[in-house]
Amino acid sequence: MVILAIETSCDETAVAVMRDGRETLSSELFSQADMHALYGGVVPEIASRNHAAIIGRLAEMAIKNAGVAKSDIDAVAVTYAPGLIGALLVGVNFAKGLALALGAPLVPVHHIRGHIAANYIAYPELSPPFICMVVSGGNSLVADVRGFTDIRIIGRSRDDAAGECFDKAARSLGLGYPGGPALDKLGQGGDDSRFALPRPSIEGFPYDMSFSGLKTAVVNIVHNAEQRGEELDKASLAASFAAAVSDILVLRAMAAAEEYGRDKIVIAGGVAANSRVRADFLKAAETQGRALFIPPLKLCGDNAAMIGCQGYFEYLAGVRAGADLNAYATMDADAVYW
Ligand code: KG4
Repeated sequence: MVILAIETSCDETAVAVMRDGRETLSSELFSQADMHALYGGVVPEIASRNHAAIIGRLAEMAIKNAGVAKSDIDAVAVTYAPGLIGALLVGVNFAKGLALALGAPLVPVHHIRGHIAANYIAYPELSPPFICMVVSGGNSLVADVRGFTDIRIIGRSRDDAAGECFDKAARSLGLGYPGGPALDKLGQGGDDSRFALPRPSIEGFPYDMSFSGLKTAVVNIVHNAEQRGEELDKASLAASFAAAVSDILVLRAMAAAEEYGRDKIVIAGGVAANSRVRADFLKAAETQGRALFIPPLKLCGDNAAMIGCQGYFEYLAGVRAGADLNAYATMDADAVYW
């Protein structure tokens, strides 16, 4: 079965063609990150306008590079939530038009479910159940993935997402947008115990997280050093910060795997690209004797292949949308589309 998938939830315009969920025939991506870097973050209207200008050509390219004819496309999958509303609407409406023109069914896909599915592409043998730690720019949550379309959220961030926290901490250190990769690099070689940073937990909610205090702690250290005219050991601050985020994530994923009796742990989302997070998860999984699945770097960030993959499983589960499909800025990953 061939699915054409579209992803426009933030600042990446992406179109992919997938066969039977896990096989990538083509995966095209246009990142607008450079344009938004000028403003220090994503400007929603600029993102929407760029999606509108680029998506048609990207879809043509994805079909051509997949080596399929338009008539070979069996379904169109699209991210409909969560994300920037104007950005999502461009993809949703393009997908509706394409599905109508092709006479193909339209399959709505939740962005976070797509991030989880990135692992099914990377690991053809992977199947639920497993615990998944989703850490992206807009969301941080712990999910008990019971089936390909049966996902239960058991913990989430009460405030900032882990990626957002990386971006804001990086910004305070004068690094550009997106700051996560730059902060990761800066921290290599730094002393991760040089700064004592908070690792908050929420009583009674063992899998919930909070990152805003950690972000504020970094911002305060930077400001205090500036005010005192002191030279700041930025590499060690970056390393201490990455260690704190990583501790918060690893602790919860491992505890959840224990409580829910899952022998597999999966990481998903942009922050899964972080070298400290990857190394710590590897160590912890080995110690506990659980299998660990981390997507390769190119599947960590936003892409349309993951949407096509999850779209395939949603399609098999009977999920369909009509011409009235709308986009939603917020929606839980365990909500079921009717
Ligand atoms: O999953 P993603 O591409 O976007 C959303 O769906 O939100 O994640 C983007 C986030 C950004 O906040 C970015 O700074 C962060 O992932 N990120 C990283 C690294 N690479 C990307 N954070 C820490 N270390 C990295 N190496």
